[in-house]
Amino acid sequence: MNVLMIGDVVGEAGCACFRRYCPQLKQQYQAELVIVNGENSAKGNGITPQSANALLEAGADVITTGNHCFRRRCDQVFDHPRILRPANYPEGAPGSGLTIVDLGRVQIAVLNLMGTAFMEPLDNPFSIADALLKTIDTPLIFVDFHAEATAEKRALGYYLAGRVSAVVGTHTHVQTADEECLKGATAYLSDLGMTGPADSVLGIVPAQAVDKQRFHRPVTFTEADGPCILNGACISVDRTTGKATAISRIFLRESHDR
Ligand SMILES: [Fe+2]
Ligand SMILES: [Fe+2]
Repeated sequence: MNVLMIGDVVGEAGCACFRRYCPQLKQQYQAELVIVNGENSAKGNGITPQSANALLEAGADVITTGNHCFRRRCDQVFDHPRILRPANYPEGAPGSGLTIVDLGRVQIAVLNLMGTAFMEPLDNPFSIADALLKTIDTPLIFVDFHAEATAEKRALGYYLAGRVSAVVGTHTHVQTADEECLKGATAYLSDLGMTGPADSVLGIVPAQAVDKQRFHRPVTFTEADGPCILNGACISVDRTTGKATAISRIFLRESHDR
């Protein structure tokens, strides 16, 4: 069976891009589940009920998030069983980092974790993964590891290799080209990339990003406009064993004259 995992959707333009291409991608890849990172889906960053609904209505089955999950203070978003925040937020934080999707013949677990290198000092993602894996009784397990450091991502990939179907990274908004099946069992990609405006710095108006980096002063970021890219991966798994058999990157770029 095939599962699509889509990288951080940025703003209204990113949501609209996801909506334009999700149906055809699902058909093209014969995907039975679509997992989308929505931590930047709201206009002005974060996730809101509106942006979450836009992704769900466009075809997302599960929404994962990351360090911007609570930015808009919309805790109620995480009451939805298929909208996750990283599981290693301290106990008592709103929401959950794990969901089990029941597709009838198969159950698919989606686990969202966040890195701690150059990020918030959350609970140890390796330990939390160990604890949560003990509670899951389906072999089909997909992990979105929202992290900054490639070394931390690859380390978690190897740590979970053979125990989950896929470990893919999100957060950097730039797709990496290191897809492989670790131990012949676990699909891995350091970062899925971004779904949002192509002419941008990680989705943001370039001049604002330049201002921020050049002068080191606070800048209000706005999403860029123009044609978008859609980044992600298709992961093929054996539905009985949960082992990944293939991973292929998706990098779709809209033309200027769309
Ligand atoms: Fe992001
Ligand atoms: Fe992030």
